[in-house]
Amino acid sequence: MFENMTEQEAREKILESVRCYCGKYHNTGRDEETGRIPYASRVYDGDEMSNLVDSALEFWLTAGRYSEEFEKEFSAYLGVRYCSLVNSGSSANLLAFMALTSPLLSDGKGRGRRILPGDEVITVAAGFPTTVAPIVQYGAVPVFIDVTVPGYNADVSILEDALSDKTRAVMLAHTLGNPFDLRAVSEFCSRHGLWLIEDNCDSLGSRYEMEDGWHYTGTVGDIGTSSFYPPHHMTMGEGGAVYTDDPLLNKIIRSLRDWGRDCVCPSGRDNLCGHRFDGQYGELPFGYDHKYVYSHFGYNLKATDMQAAVGCAQLKKFPVFVEKRRANFAYLYDRLHKEAKKLGYDIEERLMLPEASPHSEPSWFGFMMTCRDGVSRKSVVEAVEAAGIQTRALFAGNLTKHPCFDEMRKSGRGYRIAGGLDNTDLIMNSSFWVGVYPGMTEKMLDRMAAAIAHAAAPC
Ligand SMILES: Cc1ncc(COP(=O)(O)O)c(C=O)c1O
Repeated sequence: MFENMTEQEAREKILESVRCYCGKYHNTGRDEETGRIPYASRVYDGDEMSNLVDSALEFWLTAGRYSEEFEKEFSAYLGVRYCSLVNSGSSANLLAFMALTSPLLSDGKGRGRRILPGDEVITVAAGFPTTVAPIVQYGAVPVFIDVTVPGYNADVSILEDALSDKTRAVMLAHTLGNPFDLRAVSEFCSRHGLWLIEDNCDSLGSRYEMEDGWHYTGTVGDIGTSSFYPPHHMTMGEGGAVYTDDPLLNKIIRSLRDWGRDCVCPSGRDNLCGHRFDGQYGELPFGYDHKYVYSHFGYNLKATDMQAAVGCAQLKKFPVFVEKRRANFAYLYDRLHKEAKKLGYDIEERLMLPEASPHSEPSWFGFMMTCRDGVSRKSVVEAVEAAGIQTRALFAGNLTKHPCFDEMRKSGRGYRIAGGLDNTDLIMNSSFWVGVYPGMTEKMLDRMAAAIAHAAAPC
């Protein structure tokens, strides 16, 4: 089959066939008029598939040249110094949090001090569980504050009340693409010497205007995290990233990601620094092989090069994805008003519509709505789903109500709630969201607006 071909020519032939295959058998078009409209979907073409096969043909399998390229390009996009590719957003959150517990950080006071078991971390209960899980797993104490509606982010007016002499960090997600109040939270963290982790898994591409100019979300705090699970802003199947500007935090994140080792040589490469056998570490014999020196109790959370290869192709399309998400959000917002008007009512009287945070330019993950008093979420969601439109809850709603909290709830230990969680409960009971992913067409958005407006109409 590859007679008289060089390996490079054979590879090009395969990749050309893959592109052809993708064009012919994938993305053959959804039935916009009657087909089911998912809340999220992968958007890809022959570029992703050809990169994936290219990396398969190399058969390096673990992190390799595509991973390096992805980390470089992703850092450049976000404007951060360091990025570590990992196997999921949950792993990214685990690494971000655990980095702040490293013995390489100081044991002193203020920012720079490591988090110890029993220390407190301010967060919210209205979100995804793995923003909070690492805090609990380590034996630190999540302190939950309420959120605002319809911003769906932390209510920053409660931050001071949540503070105690044990508080060491704030760890918050930007909800569904809408940035939390980064000005207030950063200022609070700076004033009290706290770390800030931004869970950016649902908000890649969102921007926020700080006093010194615009920044991508995830890059203002000490560490940011991303997820590349298929529904997210871009995908590599499973995948995630941890990013920071701080060289020490980067070193710790890499160490924890890669088995806890001290050495920074990538997989399969030895002695890049030229000092593999001439160091003194712990109580090991002098010159012990640095490749097997461990400065942390780590994990292995690396992604494969096949995942990274898909990510490299997605990243090239990413700015267009963000624009399309914004356009879809604006279109749906407008259409909802018009559809409700046609039915003789004002949509805002029945549903609270989402609101972008001040100083922000969201890269929307979804379109969140909260049913007003007298409007049943159950009946609205059932009618919207029956019209073929997929809906979602804001993940856990109120995380403290879940079975994973049973033990802690019963014992009253292991977490704290500062003030009440009234809006968190409102979200758990009355909110739902639909998608605005870049593959949506105007016809699909028209159908969504009509179905939602009908479902929420007064009877
Ligand atoms: C805010 C938030 N953080 C973290 C995650 C976890 O990401 P992953 O599914 O890649 O583990 C998610 C998942 O959707 C999420 O929504």
